[in-house]
Amino acid sequence: MNSKVPPEIYNVEGLTPIPLNEKCPVCGDELFKVIVYGGAEIPFLCSCKREKEKKEQDRRKAEEEQAKKLSENERVKQLRKASNYTEKQKTKTLENFVLIKGTETAFNAAQRFISKVPNVRKGILFIGACGSGKTHLAAAIGNSVLDKGYSVKFITAYDLYEQIMDTYTGFEKSEHDVTNPLKTCYLLIIDDIGTTPPTKRAKAVLHSIIDSRMNREKPTILTTNLTMKELAEELDSRTIDRIPEGFVTFTITASSYRKKKG
Ligand SMILES: Nc1ncnc2c1ncn2[C@@H]1O[C@H](COP(=O)(O)OP(=O)(O)O)[C@@H](O)[C@H]1O
Ligand SMILES: [Mg+2]
Ligand SMILES: [Zn+2]
Repeated sequence: MNSKVPPEIYNVEGLTPIPLNEKCPVCGDELFKVIVYGGAEIPFLCSCKREKEKKEQDRRKAEEEQAKKLSENERVKQLRKASNYTEKQKTKTLENFVLIKGTETAFNAAQRFISKVPNVRKGILFIGACGSGKTHLAAAIGNSVLDKGYSVKFITAYDLYEQIMDTYTGFEKSEHDVTNPLKTCYLLIIDDIGTTPPTKRAKAVLHSIIDSRMNREKPTILTTNLTMKELAEELDSRTIDRIPEGFVTFTITASSYRKKKG
């Protein structure tokens, strides 16, 4: 007799179990009864066996949920590993960001961004002086996105330009190897545009990355200590043309947090 019957079936109204004249030595109920339902005979167990069955089902369900959770944790771990986050960036969150004057709109934008994942339409351009908290906010957003189980890549503009250069001088990685992960991840953070001037080639590659991401409606976060005007001189004009469409710009006017702390 198949005892794997969902407990709900025992409570179907109007169905009367037919006793088979044997008592359970434990609970004293009829040991087996049968419900005839849709032409099939369904076993109706005594109350102690039913109880046991229910417990077993609950245990299995809990076990499955546990396994799912474990694999989710495993996934977040792998995403984190692939994200290229430094140990320091891993610690940056919105909780440990101090809401000082001049950071409010950028902070709110970060909060909004996180709450909308994975339905974010536009990226963010954080503009601000050195030490004003741009990288902190960008890293914090990325950390939350990772926790939600979406892929993030963090790269400094410096490293990106260098990796692009390396594809010409070395044979290890092709340009596609460098750019493809950056084009396909859910969130890309390019930190610190403006510290190194890009080569003509680097400008074009950066444009292709941003262009491709915008076409796929994947958000990108850029941080820079340049003004909008300086940025326009730094990047490919096609990239600049697409900024209003693909990014919301926030200028952080707070001065260096490091200096503030003394
Ligand atoms: N408002 C803030 N609250 C807490 N820590 C901050 C804040 N602003 C900056 N910091 C910290 O100061 C350091 C420099 O900030 P960072 O985000 O790297 O500046 P930026 O990228 O704008 O140059 C980092 O360690 C960062 O965590
Ligand atoms: Mg920075
Ligand atoms: Zn029993």
